[in-house]
Amino acid sequence: MTGEILPQEFGGTWSLIKLDVLHDYLRFFTTALKNQRFRLVYIDAFAGSGAMLIDGGPGPLFDPEASSIHRGSASLALAVEPPFDSFQFVERSAVNVQSLRALAQGRPDVAIWQDDANTRLREICATFDRRSFRGVVFLDPFALSVEWETLKSIAATGALDVWYLFPTTATVRLLALDAEKVTAGNAARVSQLLGTDDWRTEFYPEPPVQTTLFGNEPGQRRRLADVVAIEAFVKRRLESIFSAVSEPARLGRSQNQTLFSLFFAVSNPNKRAIELAMRGAQHILRNRRRASRPRSGR
Ligand SMILES: C[S@@+](CC[C@H](N)C(=O)[O-])C[C@H]1O[C@@H](n2cnc3c(N)ncnc32)[C@H](O)[C@@H]1O
Repeated sequence: MTGEILPQEFGGTWSLIKLDVLHDYLRFFTTALKNQRFRLVYIDAFAGSGAMLIDGGPGPLFDPEASSIHRGSASLALAVEPPFDSFQFVERSAVNVQSLRALAQGRPDVAIWQDDANTRLREICATFDRRSFRGVVFLDPFALSVEWETLKSIAATGALDVWYLFPTTATVRLLALDAEKVTAGNAARVSQLLGTDDWRTEFYPEPPVQTTLFGNEPGQRRRLADVVAIEAFVKRRLESIFSAVSEPARLGRSQNQTLFSLFFAVSNPNKRAIELAMRGAQHILRNRRRASRPRSGR
């Protein structure tokens, strides 16, 4: 198959940390399960083009030295040793699908779907054969694209581990400080993301009644939830459907700016499977935090 692998431009140094974590876990996963009877599948629901260009940044701070092309998640997964038995790449953009086809070069173990991630993932999960397969799903959306129903379908397989790049800052942006100013459209998107309306009372608690000259008046409902509180809420929501969920790794331009929160979740209910997966993921997250510390704050 001919064609070119076209790097997509997005992200920053935090994207490389995210991909390092994923890559380390994929190697851990295929190594840990290599002598078991299961067939191993890697599912990339927002697969991209197979390569990414990290821009040096616009404006006066543009640093051409910082611009660089890197392998994307699909490319890293294809090269993991020991290898996965099969791959499912889902990507909405036709250009990126062309690029993924060039990357896969007609390999029979790679299925490439030009489709919506939610639709295709639910189909894959609905027919997932738990007796024969184990796998890893990577959810790497640009924004609030992962619907709660999709996470439920992954959890219901009881056989897939997930790395989910939760869009923390994009979610905060939809949640105006004043509860009255959260538009109906934004509220619906947040509920679809979190699978509940409970965020309303959690993030915007009932204010104390204010006593004025004219008597008691209800105070204004304001958002008290910050990044930490939102992450804690997301973790609790994930724990309500998955067997185990990691503390998230915060990813952003600096230690003070969280753009995304990278969660790891295990759907397998088996105690030994949970322990193994969580031990692997937590070890990788701890090492990555240590390794990235000197770079943070830039
Ligand atoms: C952050 S990029 C993924 C990058 C990729 N994981 C990598 O490492 O190269 C997000 C990708 O999701 C695709 N995308 C956005 N919304 C989508 C949807 N609803 N379904 C499938 N793909 C989608 C975009 O075209 C984009 O390529």
